[in-house]
Amino acid sequence: MEIRAYDPETDFAGVARMWREIGWLDAGEEKQEQGLKVFAEQFDSLVAVIDGSPECFVSTGTGSVRYLTEDLPLSVLTAVTTSHVARRQGLAKTLAARSIARDAVAGAAVSALGMFDQGYYNKLGFGTGTYEYWHALDPASLRVSVAARPPKRLGPDDWEAIHESRIARRRGHGSCVLDAGAATEAELLWASNGFGLGYADGPDGELTHLLWFSAKGMEFGPLNAWFMTYQTTEQFLELMSLLVQLGDNVQLVRMREPADIQLQDLIHQPFRRRRMTEKSEYENRVRANAYWQMRMCDVARCVAATSVPGGPVRFNLVVTDPIEAALDDGAEWRGVGGDYIVTFGPESSAEPGVEDGLPTLRAGVGAFTRLWLGVRPASGLAATDDLTGPGELLADLDRVLRLPTPKPDWDF
Ligand SMILES: CC(C)(COP(=O)(O)OP(=O)(O)OC[C@H]1O[C@@H](n2cnc3c(N)ncnc32)[C@H](O)[C@@H]1OP(=O)(O)O)[C@@H](O)C(=O)NCCC(=O)NCCS
Repeated sequence: MEIRAYDPETDFAGVARMWREIGWLDAGEEKQEQGLKVFAEQFDSLVAVIDGSPECFVSTGTGSVRYLTEDLPLSVLTAVTTSHVARRQGLAKTLAARSIARDAVAGAAVSALGMFDQGYYNKLGFGTGTYEYWHALDPASLRVSVAARPPKRLGPDDWEAIHESRIARRRGHGSCVLDAGAATEAELLWASNGFGLGYADGPDGELTHLLWFSAKGMEFGPLNAWFMTYQTTEQFLELMSLLVQLGDNVQLVRMREPADIQLQDLIHQPFRRRRMTEKSEYENRVRANAYWQMRMCDVARCVAATSVPGGPVRFNLVVTDPIEAALDDGAEWRGVGGDYIVTFGPESSAEPGVEDGLPTLRAGVGAFTRLWLGVRPASGLAATDDLTGPGELLADLDRVLRLPTPKPDWDF
């Protein structure tokens, strides 16, 4: 078995076979294979080769995560797959750990991913993010006072302009961007019946706001609005008004609630509609799932980005990092486990070491990342995650670390 960088010449067919095997590609779908091609080439991809054939494939991409007002360098684990013939040998774990370590050495302060389930990536130090609310709503039930103008038709060939629009979108705490255009191009190629509607109001005709959909049934829906971009709330309202227009025929649209909007405000009689559509193909409802995870790769860099009005609260921090066990002894980066002296306040810092007389917080890197991001307060994490400390310190952290709800606003 050999672990090496993905080679498009020799590895594409094997990785495509693996992705068909696990149900990520449909047989005979050339458009989908093209998506994998750009994806595997543009992201940093590793393969584990057994008997000449790639049986495990892991890729990461660079980008940024906004923490309060600062953009931190991000590594996103964009794909982790092991074929049916190479499972349970620790391949995915090893390749993922090596990819994260490589990106941490290159400067990534945070690593992020979308998980297939909880538990697996916790063993690499990841902590679960906040719930994402996916609405399934009848577009005709939206009450929007803005009238939408006729939009521009968008398709997979417009991936470049769409990607730029995603990068330029309105961003808040926790919002992520992936640099490589493949992050958008592949997604557009993988969408069944994918289409977009948007507006090019930028000074040079840039796409300022848009919705990207896929659908099994085009006539009545459901339409899945996989992502949306906007730079102002007026633009968001225009997109919602566009949905109302589609609602003459389309019965259901599924969409993720934006970070700064309570979508239910726009829905007329939401509970009545939920009851009337219960158990139907077009059931109106909201589903909450926490499916993304993050972990710090550089504690000092992450903590330095924190600026909160309260405090300061100062403590010794003992971090444990399970990724260490998945990396070679001689690896340049072996996680972030160790002792730090941390200050949270208007100016924050984490320095290596221990200071006598300070209270001590002990945390797994995943739990500490959740605390730092604002997923949950210290006292809650102490109840359910790997985080312990004296009651007074937890209360101080609850009081001082009051952060906006983190939302990546980019599914990976
Ligand atoms: C998920 C996947 C990549 C794992 O590949 P793999 O090479 O078999 O994984 P590893 O050998 O590194 O790890 C397997 C171990 O994780 C454990 N595991 C799996 N799911 C887990 C979970 N939710 N929580 C905790 N442990 C879990 C397994 O029980 C196994 O434990 P063992 O080593 O004690 O036997 C593979 O199943 C796959 O390709 N699935 C389809 C695609 C997919 O979902 N990818 C993940 C996208 S986020």
